Amino acid sequence: MLRKLLLQTSAARRSLSAAAGAASSTGSRVLLDRRPSPSLSLSPRGPSRFYSSTSAQVPGGTFVEHVDDDPNGSTSQPSATISVDRSALYNPSEHSHEPTADSELVKHLKGIIKFRGGPISVAEYMEEVLTNPKAGFYINRDVFGMKGDFITSPEVSQMFGEMIGVWTMCMWEQMGQPSRVNLVELGPGRGTLMADLLRGTSKFKLFTEALHIHMVECSPMLRKLQHSNLKCIEEENVTQDVGHRTISTLAGTPVTWHAALEQVPSGLPTIIIAHEFYDALPIHQFQRASRGWCEKMVDIQEDSSFRFVLSPQPTPAHLYLMKRSQWAADEEIEKLNHIEICPTAMDLTQTITKRISSDGGGALIIDYGRNGVISDSLQAIRKHKFVDILDDPGSADLSAYVDFAAIKHSAEEASEDVSIHGPITQSQFLGALGINFRVEALLQNCTDEQEESLRAGYWQLVGEGEAPFWEGPDEQVPMGMGTRYLVTAIVNKKQGVPVPF
Ligand SMILES: C[S@@+](CC[C@H](N)C(=O)[O-])C[C@H]1O[C@@H](n2cnc3c(N)ncnc32)[C@H](O)[C@@H]1O
Repeated sequence: MLRKLLLQTSAARRSLSAAAGAASSTGSRVLLDRRPSPSLSLSPRGPSRFYSSTSAQVPGGTFVEHVDDDPNGSTSQPSATISVDRSALYNPSEHSHEPTADSELVKHLKGIIKFRGGPISVAEYMEEVLTNPKAGFYINRDVFGMKGDFITSPEVSQMFGEMIGVWTMCMWEQMGQPSRVNLVELGPGRGTLMADLLRGTSKFKLFTEALHIHMVECSPMLRKLQHSNLKCIEEENVTQDVGHRTISTLAGTPVTWHAALEQVPSGLPTIIIAHEFYDALPIHQFQRASRGWCEKMVDIQEDSSFRFVLSPQPTPAHLYLMKRSQWAADEEIEKLNHIEICPTAMDLTQTITKRISSDGGGALIIDYGRNGVISDSLQAIRKHKFVDILDDPGSADLSAYVDFAAIKHSAEEASEDVSIHGPITQSQFLGALGINFRVEALLQNCTDEQEESLRAGYWQLVGEGEAPFWEGPDEQVPMGMGTRYLVTAIVNKKQGVPVPF
């Protein structure tokens, strides 16, 4: 089955020669984002959220380096009211830019802090910065690719979406080839992964005819881009009971957009894909102080810029910190001075798990992170460079490592009807699904330039460390995503063990 799919995909109508034609005029994804060719025969298509190992160690935050304890805070019980002792906190300013007029988002954030009479959590800051309906980072622009802020695996190579297509078809087989299935993507970006999945599987009519695609996306701008990249058309009055439908002409499948997973209709077997979605979910940060774990908050300082402060009292998020700590060994927590937790990720995992439990099917989660407690990973990236987390909010991406152990525990807590597999590395995942065969098949029929691009994309997806072929600026060395990105699956037990876990 796997091999057949890989061979069929290679013969599919997305031939490389067609891609070459499109690339020369409109910039197809195969050739998009090219850097000046290095002297060796490989050229990467663009950096991911990781560059050189040195720059990856600089997440770019203005950290609280020293905190004087509030002597009254150490014995406080969790409280919904947050007040902060601002007198004794050391917050060196790292804002080197000239003062400029506040953006709409900065005014909005300052308004919240002033209205509350105190700072907001890093999670609330992150949520506003990324998804504020008027001025959030994702809301009004295309942030992907060389002209944007960062690049993701589907944008690196078509092979990524094709391999996810292989996994999805295998899952559908294991589900007994249902005649109707909901295929849900959380945070589809430009829609590139789904487009490559549909192109790659379009010859398997039984499969594509079963699909109803559901895109969970908060950004109106990205929704439009997804509509365009899936080559959607509006179909009027198909039948009496279904009035108006949006159809992706890539494989003739209906597509619907939603703001949240809860809005996707239930009752049908479901496959859920979440690629680089979890890392955009808002995290709370905690720092160890002599009075115990204190939540890191965002406040306004006297010169009107933002700064981090520590809450003197337990905050509501402490409950999640306690929950997360119970899933960890004491030694794991004891060695840490910072901890990040993501209640939204825990809640989302439970929603996914309950859906898979009731409707059947499976979910695939791919992201960068680790299989354990995350310490201090929040990072801001603007135009492919790490920047200060508090600098010009809304103009840079914020993301954090994903805690795969918390995903596993949250899923186990939500239902006994599912099994959780992995995490395994992206390299293991793509390798076991046959990306080696796929790249070889594509290389049979491509131009020299496409060959470079394919080889570089392949390396970036499965490689590790700094690109061996890079001869450009040191700070822009592409980093292999093969071991930094992890893959986990949550599957209804009726489906057995998913490929390739
Ligand atoms: C890092 S991008 C990943 C895009 C895509 N999966 C890829 O790999 O190229 C995050 C995506 O999730 C969307 N997103 C972020 N937070 C969201 C939320 N709370 N609800 C719905 N979509 C969200 C963003 O608009 C964007 O499409």
